[in-house]
Amino acid sequence: MTITDTAARAADTATPIHPTLASRWSPRSFEATTPIDEVALAAALEAARWAPSAANTQPARFIVARRGSEAFSKIADSLMGFNSVWAGSASVLLVAVAEVTDDEGQPRRWAEYDLGQAMASFTFQAHHDGLHVHQMGGFDADAVRTAFGLSERYVPLTVAAVGTLAPAEALANETLIARESAPRTRLPLADLLLADA
Ligand SMILES: Cc1cc2nc3c(=O)[nH]c(=O)nc-3n(C[C@H](O)[C@H](O)[C@H](O)COP(=O)(O)O)c2cc1C
Repeated sequence: MTITDTAARAADTATPIHPTLASRWSPRSFEATTPIDEVALAAALEAARWAPSAANTQPARFIVARRGSEAFSKIADSLMGFNSVWAGSASVLLVAVAEVTDDEGQPRRWAEYDLGQAMASFTFQAHHDGLHVHQMGGFDADAVRTAFGLSERYVPLTVAAVGTLAPAEALANETLIARESAPRTRLPLADLLLADA
């Protein structure tokens, strides 16, 4: 078993769940020369498009940037802390953006929730098709807003690194390698259930 064996990283679930859900995880080591699998990327975006949303308002928007493009560099430059060390190896950096007001300027109360659902669908479809996805909140949203000329109507919420898994040992330093192989843990289900009548 190597430490980047995805089977070894699978969730230790209390009850069996769908294999794609169980085997999904968020790596930091991506193949730095592998281009994105365009069919898989298109499928992941299609899955996001078909996510549920409040009153079918569909507020999820995406900035898709392939490695080597100017857009990719702009997004990579916005990353903070350790994210800026590892995420540049991804094949794609994708900014998940919520369109938080409607055409009349009225707030969309569930826009961020809906965007999260779209990203969940994106992530699971991508994982099903052999890609790995690592979402990040650690980026400068104002820098992304400026770089892509986004108005106040749009709120960049996360950047996702998308690509092909690489060995943990390819990471830049021991801290990142340790994180890549650290045990994956969750709260017990009982802690999540505020009521279970
Ligand atoms: C909204 C959001 C923000 C996150 N921000 C970061 C981040 O800035 N850097 C990072 O390395 N991981 C980030 N993550 C990844 C989480 O740390 C990760 O999903 C969590 O530790 C569970 O690990 P798993 O995805 O491998 O199950 C973020 C995930 C989400 C959903």
